[in-house]
Amino acid sequence: VREFQLPRPAQRDSATRIVIGKSARQQLAQLVDDTFGGAPWALCADGHVLQLWYDDLAVEPPLGFFPLPPGEAAKSFAVVESLLEEFTRVGVGRDACIVTLGGGAAGDAAGLAAALHLRGIATANVPTSLLSMVDASLGGKCAVNLATGKNLAGTFWNPALVVIDPDFLETLAEVEFRSGLGEIAKYALGFSQPLADSLQQGVGDLAAVIETCVGIKADIVIADPYETSGTRARLNLGHTTAHALEAWAADDEVLVPHGLAVGLGLRVACNLALEEGRLSQDEHSSANALLDRHQLPATLSDLIAKPPPAAELTPFLGRDKKIIAGELRVVLPNGIGASEVTTIDASRFAQAIANC
Ligand code: GLY
Repeated sequence: VREFQLPRPAQRDSATRIVIGKSARQQLAQLVDDTFGGAPWALCADGHVLQLWYDDLAVEPPLGFFPLPPGEAAKSFAVVESLLEEFTRVGVGRDACIVTLGGGAAGDAAGLAAALHLRGIATANVPTSLLSMVDASLGGKCAVNLATGKNLAGTFWNPALVVIDPDFLETLAEVEFRSGLGEIAKYALGFSQPLADSLQQGVGDLAAVIETCVGIKADIVIADPYETSGTRARLNLGHTTAHALEAWAADDEVLVPHGLAVGLGLRVACNLALEEGRLSQDEHSSANALLDRHQLPATLSDLIAKPPPAAELTPFLGRDKKIIAGELRVVLPNGIGASEVTTIDASRFAQAIANC
């Protein structure tokens, strides 16, 4: 028996260039050319978004358009597989770049396909939902859903370019806008007291709020790019509840908007934090006031008309990735604007969801 050490090459990802601003989309072709040195590119887009913005965008991707099923339906191996087959048919080469246009689901499916195509080609993200602008388009997480849970099969594949244009929000459905506010509330309650204070008054300057959230996410991703130290895991505040409810509802083919489920998850996390003395009564009231202000679900039945009992939820918590040695790893707020990864008994957590 002989043993060798083969140094593992560093991840290929280098910096992500982030461009934010109204009308930034009008520079898309130029930004792609600049960033990728004139490489050929294809646009993989949520079909619904593409229909709405095709004329306005007026781009001619050299490798063409690849429409994706709208929303969460894009996040399946079947969609990724047919994208990969299309890439091969069209001759998308190693030097090419995949530009994704749409919400988080489009970025997940097309990003995962790009990560797999010829063992990985470059990507750029153009998020069109509020949720994707503040979270999903940044940091490289790409995954599809399995019958056993959300986002269970995927990789980190960081985009080289992200172009965030708040003008896309003009055509975003109201429920999707509120869904984005769920993720914004996560940043406020878990990471930034000043953002929480300002959101108590309303959204205010939306572009500035997006920029603040992008800044918070960028700092976290720089500190813990592959979610190994516990820092990035804090971005899952509200998500243990959200993923369990989304997976439970998916079994009945009911779609629960992700950010609204996160909003409810924030209530659950705040209730547990109050029980554990991590939030004072005043802080708990202030967190709930913020969530109320942005019309995020106040109770489980606001989110799901016929909510499940705790016993039905426990197995879905067990399917989540956040289990280590049988302990459910969750994120709870520690005061307003701070948060911490901790462990909790799964049935206690399920009961807290059911009681919400
Ligand atoms: N959306 C959570 C993360 O990117 O880690």
